[in-house]
Amino acid sequence: MRFILLVFLTFTSILAETSYEKGKNLYISHACYSCHGHKLEGIHRYPRLANRAKGYMSYKLKHFREGKADSQQQEMMITFAVDLSDEDIDNLTTYFIDYVDVENAESYDDSYENYGDGGS
Ligand code: HEC
Repeated sequence: MRFILLVFLTFTSILAETSYEKGKNLYISHACYSCHGHKLEGIHRYPRLANRAKGYMSYKLKHFREGKADSQQQEMMITFAVDLSDEDIDNLTTYFIDYVDVENAESYDDSYENYGDGGS
């Protein structure tokens, strides 16, 4: 019984994967980080992808998927885009626009209340 419950829970958590998580997994499994960086920050001449406009990023990926590139440098991307489905592109671009650098994200301590002071 416990096993069945565990399987059920694992299954529902897989099904509940968000678009952001799917995009993140695709980004990792397709090794996009090797050029665009683990934090989507871009490396050398490879562009940054973090928090960039979803519409523009989808347009670019679909453009590359069709085997089109505007420069020799961009031709590199064709190989990485050919296998992407519309859904993959949707998930990837959600990951880009919503990207949060968890390690450096600001967290605030809600045990500290600062209201009421500084009223002079
Ligand atoms: C071998 C290196 C390399 C890998 C791996 C790679 N890219 Fe790129 N990517 C590039 C280059 C080069 C460009 C074009 C830069 C330019 O416009 O000059 C580019 C451009 C892009 C752009 C357009 C950005 C812009 O500013 O126009 C997107 C979006 C993108 N890549 C997504 C991805 C995704 C998603 C993956 C993984 C599936 C990936 N890339 C893997 C090298 C790479």
